[in-house]
Amino acid sequence: MIITRTRKELDVALKNFSKNSEKLALIPTMGNLHEGHLSLIRIAKKHASKTISTIFVNPLQFGKNEDYDKYPRTHEDDIKKLNDEKCDILFLPVNNKEVFSNIEDIKTIHSGILGSELCGKIRPGHFDGVLTVVNKLFEIINPDVAVFGAKDYQQEILIRQMAVSLHPNIELIKAPIIRAENGIALSSRNNYLSEPELEMAANLYKALYHSAQSYKKNFDLKTIISEAKNYLISKKLIPHYFELRDHNLNKIDINQFEGKKVFLGSVTINNTRLIDNIEF
Ligand code: PAJ
Repeated sequence: MIITRTRKELDVALKNFSKNSEKLALIPTMGNLHEGHLSLIRIAKKHASKTISTIFVNPLQFGKNEDYDKYPRTHEDDIKKLNDEKCDILFLPVNNKEVFSNIEDIKTIHSGILGSELCGKIRPGHFDGVLTVVNKLFEIINPDVAVFGAKDYQQEILIRQMAVSLHPNIELIKAPIIRAENGIALSSRNNYLSEPELEMAANLYKALYHSAQSYKKNFDLKTIISEAKNYLISKKLIPHYFELRDHNLNKIDINQFEGKKVFLGSVTINNTRLIDNIEF
């Protein structure tokens, strides 16, 4: 794997690939890689001849009181994992300037109404930060394909909406959620939790799963949601939202049994906020 730490090094690596007219797939990450991230690389390899991964903890998507400083940075381990997966290029910028050359001149991408709902309601500005960095990475790298996980469902939809207008030539692929044995969706933030807390966290998945089963049996949506929230509270999880939406995240007001749907939930355990969803 070629490790690039600056834009210059990255440009050289990319030029060598384009000379050979390779099809390039991008997998953006913030590092602390786990099986969820690695699954994206394996999927990317099926859609392209070369893969490039980025590891960048993007300051723009963290709120003032969030975990930017303590976000786990495990570069040595990450490089080893990417090497094992035979990723072709890693862009691991030495500093923020290698991504946003001039912090005053950043072209902010606004995430609109959807960006202020669900996770965006709890994290104002978060999705603007995500779209701004993803747009920048798309501009710098100009991949043919980019892979994002369904774990961050709202993020994936917003990136898709942004790409339709700004990067129509990039093919976006949504990768399924990779879970631990107890059902919990793998996440770098799971590292903040103790073993018993991880067991508690699995109740978010249980509530989502049970709700999807009940909805398929035509149970009343309002009852399903209030029971799910009560269940989470009984398990000492603090729910922020628990909602059913259509697969593009449009709101559903009444029971509406046609078409693909997604239950999405967010909870806090001991100051750590976790998200998960089930599409059906
Ligand atoms: P990060 O949280 O590191 O996630 C990188 C990618 O891995 C995202 O597309 C995410 O959805 C995917 N992913 C994480 N956990 C997963 C799991 N359990 N199963 C499948 N895919 C999973 O998401 C971000 O970084 C950032 O917001 C980023 C897009 C890199 C922009 O900064």
